[in-house]
Amino acid sequence: MATCVDCHSTEGNPHSVVRVLEYNAPTYTKNISQTCARCHDNQELMASYGIVEKVYESYMRSFHGKAMQLDTELVQLDKATCTNCHGVHDIKSVQDPTSR
Ligand code: HEC
Ligand code: HEC
Ligand code: HEC
Repeated sequence: MATCVDCHSTEGNPHSVVRVLEYNAPTYTKNISQTCARCHDNQELMASYGIVEKVYESYMRSFHGKAMQLDTELVQLDKATCTNCHGVHDIKSVQDPTSR
């Protein structure tokens, strides 16, 4: 499961936690989909939870994913990424009626 360091550390350990808006932060808007993809694009891991593993691929094919890739590094982007639809610290199962 994702813990604080999975999303907030550049090297996956508590000594490399960076500010949310650093351009190289895993939480920087443009990098979020890759952060989620570290687990959600992993077929074996997702299969063991019975979750579809194509979400990153399908996001990158979507309008939002394409628009995100085209934009420049410096803009704090307003394009939709994973967290705009799923939440951040309140991510829920898609089966949950209270999920976004
Ligand atoms: C699934 C990824 C993920 C996990 C797990 C996660 N965070 Fe975050 N966190 C984010 C993202 C993305 C943002 C940026 C939110 C935004 O831009 O509004 C954020 C924002 C923050 C902020 C800044 C809050 C603010 O108001 O600016 C703090 C502090 C924080 N997280 C701490 C934590 C702590 C502590 C944990 C573990 C208990 C944790 N996070 C777990 C993704 C995560
Ligand atoms: C534009 C909104 C949107 C964006 C962006 C988005 N999702 Fe989703 N996601 C959804 C919706 C809606 C569903 C439910 C689809 C369904 O039930 O058919 C879903 C389903 C899922 C699921 C559950 C799959 C399953 O097995 O049921 C996961 C995991 C997921 N998304 C992760 C991600 C990740 C990771 C990203 C970024 C790479 C992302 N999503 C981007 C809206 C979004
Ligand atoms: C460290 C690995 C890891 C990271 C990073 C991670 N996840 Fe997950 N995520 C999981 C696992 C494992 C589950 C399944 C947990 C379970 O079913 O008990 C899960 C479950 C989910 C679900 C619920 C799927 C369902 O069953 O409907 C959503 C939605 C989701 N994650 C979205 C995200 C988003 C968005 C991000 C990035 C901001 C993210 N995750 C980052 C490992 C991760």
